[in-house]
Amino acid sequence: GAPVQVDISKLELGQRVVQEWRGQPVWVVNRTDEMLAGLAQIEGSLRDPGSEQDQQPPYAKNQWRSIKKEYLVLIGTCTHLGCSPLYEQEPTVQLDHGGFFCPCHGSMFDLAGRVYQGVPAPTNLVVPPHSYLSESVIIVG
Ligand code: FES
Repeated sequence: GAPVQVDISKLELGQRVVQEWRGQPVWVVNRTDEMLAGLAQIEGSLRDPGSEQDQQPPYAKNQWRSIKKEYLVLIGTCTHLGCSPLYEQEPTVQLDHGGFFCPCHGSMFDLAGRVYQGVPAPTNLVVPPHSYLSESVIIVG
């Protein structure tokens, strides 16, 4: 499939936009400072906090799993059996710092798409190949 553009110029703090790419949903989340701060606090609960097991672009191999720390870009498909996890912007009973909750079998991911321990999903959510065309446009693919 051809690369697609995602316009993030109107993406407000905490919001997510969804764009289809190769038949899959790609999410872009504009993470707040509070969301970013939460990432460091839960690393002990994650299966692969450093994304060592992942196939992912080298520019996402950092603590934010992203090029710009505020913008998270992920394929929005659970790494267990492919359901679509729900975006939990605010803390929930399951997710102290918000994240993504898969309703199919209860897998949980943090706001960098990193999987928690003890859930069915084996790996972190996938970061697709992407780049910035400008300050406000991301190219996926
Ligand atoms: Fe998401 Fe099974 S498909 S937990």
